[in-house]
Amino acid sequence: MFGLETKAQEWHRDLTTLCAFFLSSAVFRRCGLAILKRSLQIALAVLLTISYLVTAHHHSPCAPPTKTIIAHRGASAYAPENTLPAFRLALEMGADFIEYDLQVTKDKQLVVLHDETLERTTNVEEVFPARSRIAAGDKSRKKHWYIYDFTLAEIKKLDAGSWAGANFKDTPVPTFQETLDIIRGRAGHFIELKKPDDYNARGVDMERLVLAQLERNNLANPDSQARPPIIIQSFSARSLQKIAAELKSPLPLHLLTSADDKDGWLTRDGLVKAKRFCAGISPHKASLSKNPEIVTWAHELGLRVTPYTFAATPHETEPLRAEMFRFFYTLKADGVITDNPDVAEKAKTK
Ligand code: G3P
Ligand code: CA
Repeated sequence: MFGLETKAQEWHRDLTTLCAFFLSSAVFRRCGLAILKRSLQIALAVLLTISYLVTAHHHSPCAPPTKTIIAHRGASAYAPENTLPAFRLALEMGADFIEYDLQVTKDKQLVVLHDETLERTTNVEEVFPARSRIAAGDKSRKKHWYIYDFTLAEIKKLDAGSWAGANFKDTPVPTFQETLDIIRGRAGHFIELKKPDDYNARGVDMERLVLAQLERNNLANPDSQARPPIIIQSFSARSLQKIAAELKSPLPLHLLTSADDKDGWLTRDGLVKAKRFCAGISPHKASLSKNPEIVTWAHELGLRVTPYTFAATPHETEPLRAEMFRFFYTLKADGVITDNPDVAEKAKTK
């Protein structure tokens, strides 16, 4: 799926070609220095073996790892979710992919935020006390500050870090572009489109906005070189089908399914249907615990399986490590979506 070669692997390949050419060259055939040639062959064989061993263990964010670590909203167990500090930390922890959520502002800018409302993770109530409203049809009659009522300039005035700790004070809500820039070349992107059907119903073509932004960054085509792997995911099958069939995006897509799987995607028939537009599924982890056969069925169809969400507080991570180990090696998941990418790294090896 990724088809990318690391610099180290490239170097190893070039060195092999050069050696083969040199040892078969006319210079050696003519001079007939058989002993010298043999000694050089042995020395080069040793050198090539060492170079292979080094490159085989070289970690690259672009190579397809056997077991993929996907940092959920960044390293969100340790830093405010969906912010640049959380992404930076996840990169430092060696995550293969960073998962993040996209929403659209009033002026149609893509920003990274999980909720469609701003009050849980920002200080919007303090900064814009009069801008909440009760949404039409909301039976709870609760006032909310909806992201699509605010422009990007207004959202940039908010503090999206303090709620997670005083040391993150004044951390802004990142734009999609800022997120692409910070992750570029260091990990893959696991991009979730939040509520695309609702945006479409309000006249906002969220899928086109996302693909256009990727296109501007030369990231819309999985074959373009020097690019990080990009996977787009959504709970909306309709939105993913639109991306694949109508917008003809060649990017790999993952269908997210909730714990109740009310649409039956995690049945044999459901997975066959998902395979028509998806490269993988991201089920709630409880679905796989309940029915481990889902992984076998998905693999038979060539679908990757990346369950969510594996999380623990920073001080009590051993049960989480054991849980992720079970998902990696007993249930045979291809990756885990986790708030604790550092713990996932330990779960890969023991
Ligand atoms: O990537 C899976 C997960 O992010 C889906 O749930 O609510 O955390 O976006 P949520
Ligand atoms: Ca998400």
